[in-house]
Amino acid sequence: MKKISTLGTSNFSHFRHFYIKTMGCQMNDYDSDYLAQFLVNNGFSPVNTPENADLILINTCAVRAKPEQKAYSFLGRMSSIKKGNPDLTIGMVGCLAQLKGPELLKRFPQLDLVIGPRELGRFKKILEKIDRNSGKIVATRLDLAPPQPVPCKGYFHKRITNHVSIMEGCNNFCSYCIVPYVRGREISRSPDEIVAEAKNLLSEGIREITLLGQNVNSYLWEGKKSKWGFPALLNELSRLNGLLRLRFTTSHPKDLSDDLIHSFCHIKNLCHHIHLPFQAGSNRILKLMKRGYTRENYLELIDKLRKMIPDIAITSDVMVGFPGESDEDFELTMDLVRRVEFDSLFSFKYSDRKGTVAEKMDGKIDKTVKSSRLNILQDLQKKITLKKNKALEGIQLEVLVEGPSKRVGQLTGRTASHKVVNFNSNNSRIGRLCTVTIKHSFLNSLRGEVVE
Ligand code: 5AD
Ligand code: SF4
Repeated sequence: MKKISTLGTSNFSHFRHFYIKTMGCQMNDYDSDYLAQFLVNNGFSPVNTPENADLILINTCAVRAKPEQKAYSFLGRMSSIKKGNPDLTIGMVGCLAQLKGPELLKRFPQLDLVIGPRELGRFKKILEKIDRNSGKIVATRLDLAPPQPVPCKGYFHKRITNHVSIMEGCNNFCSYCIVPYVRGREISRSPDEIVAEAKNLLSEGIREITLLGQNVNSYLWEGKKSKWGFPALLNELSRLNGLLRLRFTTSHPKDLSDDLIHSFCHIKNLCHHIHLPFQAGSNRILKLMKRGYTRENYLELIDKLRKMIPDIAITSDVMVGFPGESDEDFELTMDLVRRVEFDSLFSFKYSDRKGTVAEKMDGKIDKTVKSSRLNILQDLQKKITLKKNKALEGIQLEVLVEGPSKRVGQLTGRTASHKVVNFNSNNSRIGRLCTVTIKHSFLNSLRGEVVE
């Protein structure tokens, strides 16, 4: 393994090149930004291909078997690069690193570092150890607080939207989910840290912030003099100068408070969009999943949201083929999807995660049944999404312009409901809100015309 030498004022050589591969969710994107900012601040430069890097970090996801396999196959490819370049350092970070720990070093002899998501605050120390050539490292403590990113001037250049993590971990232990085991117990960041991070993003040109947490409704900060819940935090952030839009994800239906619903009504720059995973439409399955609500509770919540905020976009997560899911249970999921008509839906096949309660349940569903249920569900949702998008034709919507689209001469942005809109314009509109008339709707995007 190559030594990371110390040059000048930096802890590490500024000749170092790094490459980060990010898999999984927005929290992983956020963590990769944390690592990249740290490396740039310490004299490293990013490269576009792993072959040109001397430090490769793979930020992994463990939520289903598929991303796990993807991580192994990417790691395999990186290991073969290392065979031709023994000075290369390879690290696996994120949820799979946490889950597998030292086992990974045995299975992949080319791997040097294994770092869990709660260990990012100790990344500097870990690199210093590598610098001293003191062997391979496995860092998988779960009791550490999320670190404060150190601002890195120009890092967010060309981005208009970005995330800020407000809390980490999950205390819910839904029976199928590995997240509580790999991201630890819930811990909220202080409002001061969150506001400082948001202010820095705004000073770097970011205009829309999405607050991240496994369960943002549980945000709670108890300081010496004050106590902050999630609605109070939203209020505070919404007032920051230059913030055009505020969003958050993910909410748990069992903790969606009236206060939070009211926030949509009185916070002007809070986008009318909520991501509210329902996971299953059958009460029997919801109970086995330990979700803490019934389909009736969920449908009531949707009614309440739509009564109070008529234009709210609602998106969700669902899975098919949970152990014991019968045709009738699946039909109840289909029925819920038909009733709610989500703006969009992320749907998955249940995947066994070792160590969870569901993994030990009887009644595992056959692969082909899961695939067929998923296809039926996705076909239904496609029809609903297209119908909802078509209903927008001829309507004027506000778009936050994010940058050039794939087509020359076109820009792309998103509506408050998070739908992609492409339209002809010069670059002067980037970073601004503009009104667009929707001319053509497709399944995954809308085409519009600027209202001058
Ligand atoms: N199998 C399939 N899907 C899962 N999810 C979480 N755990 C599993 C699992 N074991 C899905 C849920 C969650 C989303 C992020 O991933 O729908 O909301
Ligand atoms: Fe997993 Fe449930 Fe926590 Fe979401 S709320 S991260 S599904 S345990």
